[in-house]
Amino acid sequence: MKCRKCDAKAIINMRQHKLALCKDHYPQWMLEQTQRFIEKYRMFSLQERVLVAVSGGKDSLSLWDILWQLGYQADGLYIGLGIDGGIGYSDESHHLAEKFAAGRGLRLRVVDVLETYGETIPEMAERTTRGKGRPCAVCGLTKRHVMNRVARDEGYDVLVTGHNLDDEAAVLFANTLNWAPGYLMRQGPVLEARQGMARKAKPLCRFYEREMVAYALVRGIEYIYDECPHALGSKTIYYKEILNKLESDRPGAKLSFYLSFLKAKEDGLFTRPQQGDGETGASGEALHTCPTCGQPTSAPGECAFCRLAIRIS
Ligand code: AMP
Ligand code: FES
Ligand code: ZN
Ligand code: ZN
Repeated sequence: MKCRKCDAKAIINMRQHKLALCKDHYPQWMLEQTQRFIEKYRMFSLQERVLVAVSGGKDSLSLWDILWQLGYQADGLYIGLGIDGGIGYSDESHHLAEKFAAGRGLRLRVVDVLETYGETIPEMAERTTRGKGRPCAVCGLTKRHVMNRVARDEGYDVLVTGHNLDDEAAVLFANTLNWAPGYLMRQGPVLEARQGMARKAKPLCRFYEREMVAYALVRGIEYIYDECPHALGSKTIYYKEILNKLESDRPGAKLSFYLSFLKAKEDGLFTRPQQGDGETGASGEALHTCPTCGQPTSAPGECAFCRLAIRIS
């Protein structure tokens, strides 16, 4: 198959866009599209300071690469979770993130959870679930807390993550199965700043996972191929498999699922009932401020993270 824009061999065929592109035109198209999404959803401007949360995976490193090429002021943040899983998962992803930053002269901030909070994520999970639960919930809570803290303390205007369309469609699917109104209301390409927390944005939310793999490969980005060892058998992976099946029968189904949701939201399908003037959390409840860390929380008193971490001796 030939590239739509020149005679060279296409390296990717995007059936949903009826578009095949070569190794030169594909990365160019990704840059143009990302710039378009950044503007369309008013994510950030060239004058603003951007903090990119980088995991060492293909999505977040590619995102950083794209923003760097587009001329944004983007620093990276790597959170060392202390996950080994027999493959040195965290060490390897840290190494790849450092190598990426050094190769482009970019600034990578690092927060090591063990050094900062006295325990690795698996240790925190072991203690709080008494060895029964997966570390993913504790991990998610900690990552969100650290990202918010660094963005706020270091004065970034916006925090961006590498969530792609497959991630967003799987979350949307889960939230729709439960009709979780608070989560549905907050899901989208941008979450505005509130109560001292930076704006959050997901510039890759309209790109399929396979498009991100192709981008990383064609740009020669070295990334960690392994998924987090604790994600194996997770619900998210199960939902992604279901959506992949749907996509293979109906090319474009994932994109249309996500975009129709955004449109429905814009049209007022998920309007919030009147709750007074205050801000609300994921379930629509009023927001309070955690006395320990100053981040918003849904109940009065310490936030879930401070309640978890404060017990560290
Ligand atoms: P995940 O929750 O692992 O699917 O990752 C979603 C996004 O969160 C990634 O694309 C990154 O932007 C960010 N992220 C995940 N893990 C880390 C980490 N260890 N350090 C910094 N950012 C991360
Ligand atoms: Fe956090 Fe897997 S448990 S990345
Ligand atoms: Zn071409
Ligand atoms: Zn707190």
